[in-house]
Amino acid sequence: MTVEVYADERTRASAVRQRLVQEIRKVYIGNTETVDLLLIALLARGHVLLEGVPGIAKTTLIKTFAQTVGLSFSRIQFTPDLLPADITGTYVLNLRSNEFTLRRGPIFANVVLGDEINRAPAKTQSALLEAMQESQVTIEGDTQELPQPFIVLATQNPVEQEGVYVLPEAQVDRFLFKIVLGYPTFEQERQVLGTYNTPLPDVSEVLDADDIKRLSAAAEMTYIAPPIMDYIVRLVQHTRSHGAVLLGASPRASLALMRCAKVCAFIAGRDHVLPDDVRSLVVAVLNHRIILTPEAELDQLGVIDVINECLAAVPYSHEA
Ligand SMILES: Nc1ncnc2c1ncn2[C@@H]1O[C@H](COP(=O)(O)OP(=O)(O)O)[C@@H](O)[C@H]1O
Ligand SMILES: [Mg+2]
Repeated sequence: MTVEVYADERTRASAVRQRLVQEIRKVYIGNTETVDLLLIALLARGHVLLEGVPGIAKTTLIKTFAQTVGLSFSRIQFTPDLLPADITGTYVLNLRSNEFTLRRGPIFANVVLGDEINRAPAKTQSALLEAMQESQVTIEGDTQELPQPFIVLATQNPVEQEGVYVLPEAQVDRFLFKIVLGYPTFEQERQVLGTYNTPLPDVSEVLDADDIKRLSAAAEMTYIAPPIMDYIVRLVQHTRSHGAVLLGASPRASLALMRCAKVCAFIAGRDHVLPDDVRSLVVAVLNHRIILTPEAELDQLGVIDVINECLAAVPYSHEA
């Protein structure tokens, strides 16, 4: 890719970002940061876990986001009796030809909403998480490739709620981001009431598969200076030595942070990463990859507190 093409794509990326925010705002009332994170994940080819209590529009947000992207979409509602084959598909006997034919499950789509994934038992969750990891599924011994791009947007209720199955730690870090959605502000909630009973506005498509391909390739070309790479490594390593941490973030997390920081700069229309790009992503990239000690939990210390302490303890320095 030439410098000129890269510059064009960058300009397009910031236009796409603005249009995406406008379209989603027609239906979902919330922070633009959340929409930015969804776009960053899409261009960085990562999956997203959205966590929050019921009734704060997690499903609404993801469905609306999917509408803005001109790709095939499917929704899988996770329930305690959902089986792996309900996700991946199964062979069924065709009575006319007397042969088994594959009936593909809802996982065969570009954008998959895995709704309330922690309501299903571990085995079923694993079917989804394996598909995310491998971009393929195995159905009765046969391997089937999933369409590309492939992005899973999953929602879950906080673990304190009853009737949920905790996702295995090793699998949670297959999500690029965990976004924790809180309650709306007064103004936001008031606006939700204001739009009640008005017909749902049409949401337009903002990008298609081709755009995503070109924009993700261009985003990779964004420059990241050595001191910023140092900063990422120091931040992530600091999570491993923090007193309240049992298991810190891995090098996979450092890589994720770097890749996303590039996309973050790119959609802001910049050709280089700033320390603030890194800071704005640290919580979403790290919060599901750090396990606290039991003592820290007793002290009511949360992962986000620990991440903020790491940010405060590790200053950015120009000297490489
Ligand atoms: N921030 C918001 N913006 C727009 N609608 C909202 C918002 N919060 C709640 N709602 C409305 O509340 C209802 C619940 O949304 P839903 O997406 O099902 O929530 P969740 O998936 O988090 O349980 C929907 O009718 C939605 O329109
Ligand atoms: Mg929901």
